[in-house]
Amino acid sequence: MIWQRKHILGMRDLEAEEINLILETAESFKEISTRTIKKVPTMRGKTVVNLFFEPSTRTRTSFEIAAKRLSADTINFTVSASSVSKGETLIDTARNIEAMNPDIIVTRHSAGGAPYLLSKYVNSSIINAGDGAHEHPSQALLDMLTVKEQKGKLKGLKLAIIGDISHSRVARSNIFGFTKMGVEVRVAGPATLIPVDIEKMGVGVFYRIEQAIEEADIIMMLRIQMERQKGQLFPTLREYSRFYSLDLKRLKLAKEDVTIMHPGPINRGIEISPEVADGPYSVILNQVTNGVAVRMALLYLLAGGGDLD
Ligand code: CP
Repeated sequence: MIWQRKHILGMRDLEAEEINLILETAESFKEISTRTIKKVPTMRGKTVVNLFFEPSTRTRTSFEIAAKRLSADTINFTVSASSVSKGETLIDTARNIEAMNPDIIVTRHSAGGAPYLLSKYVNSSIINAGDGAHEHPSQALLDMLTVKEQKGKLKGLKLAIIGDISHSRVARSNIFGFTKMGVEVRVAGPATLIPVDIEKMGVGVFYRIEQAIEEADIIMMLRIQMERQKGQLFPTLREYSRFYSLDLKRLKLAKEDVTIMHPGPINRGIEISPEVADGPYSVILNQVTNGVAVRMALLYLLAGGGDLD
């Protein structure tokens, strides 16, 4: 297929064949990161702006590394050092950045829909690097690449996503993405952290982690998003951990060849025990490595493709 999409706003928009093209392109890019000189000239002369209004370790850094490996110029916008602190709006900020002619703007914002809004007001390509509790498409794509590497396929697998589903953009993007690729997705967590009507997204719903992880090929643990919660949705973190943490005892209920994932940041001892996070079934750092390849693929496709020498 020929890539035609201008923006990457969410997994909801992407067709299965577009997802396949991104994953295949990312697979071909992985080798570049193992070279002595980790750079190809493909995006020479292009400019990528990282416009992050929320904190990030993995996503911002890997977009920057991805752009640099493709020889693009990268600029990181820091909210605290910008005129946002003087009251400038999102749209004005983006329009002023666009007046400097970047090719791609990668943005993260606490408001769901912010990247969609920007895509209407600027001419650059927009990549959503996380908007509120809405979507985080590049995370879902790197998760899919990691599963494909581990299991050799996507179709027919069973994925259990455990934790704070309501406030997780990672959960939403993964549900959209994995179900499109023929994966059976189930979610589990306290009833207060599971959205009403989530079954309509085509997932199975469980309220006990033990039931959800049984027979799962992949278990994806999520952080409790305290920064997005309003009101008290469970008594204490200690109790949450007692009922929903993935520890060695619960891991015994899972399949022998289960794969353990987490998008990060991890709260060790709350949603996942250190022994599981660092154990033989964990691919948490593989996810981070694959983040660079997936983000290289997204930048490359949005920049119009080209030679990879
Ligand atoms: N997974 C993820 O989005 O991590 P960061 O918040 O560190 O970017």
